[in-house]
Amino acid sequence: MRYIPALTAAWLVGLAGSAGAAELRPPPGASSCAGCHAQGAAMGALDGRPEAEIAAALAEYRSGARPASVMGRIAKGFSESESQAIAAYLASQGNP
Ligand code: HEC
Repeated sequence: MRYIPALTAAWLVGLAGSAGAAELRPPPGASSCAGCHAQGAAMGALDGRPEAEIAAALAEYRSGARPASVMGRIAKGFSESESQAIAAYLASQGNP
């Protein structure tokens, strides 16, 4: 579980104001995704995407099966169960 603490902190700070609607508490790392995957952000939102789709993508990035610029490195920072928790959380967020 090594991901870049400084960058993660920056993403967390960016998110701090917008976590209000969450029913589930975000699992560790989940809020870091929104820095790049928010509504209107470069990579598009993951909120409301099917859990299985997000989890499968993370597993493929982690194993290197899916080509990536940054997601391989990010996905390697999370264990299987952490990735699953993140996927479940993001899927639960729904599209605004
Ligand atoms: C630094 C920016 C950045 C962060 C942070 C980030 N991503 Fe990504 N994500 C990308 C990019 C860029 C891609 C496209 C693949 C690539 O080039 O790595 C991507 C692709 C994806 C995809 C595939 C999307 C699709 O439509 O196929 C998923 C799923 C995903 N990211 C999940 C996550 C999750 C979950 C997190 C948080 C743990 C996260 N990402 C954090 C930049 C980021």
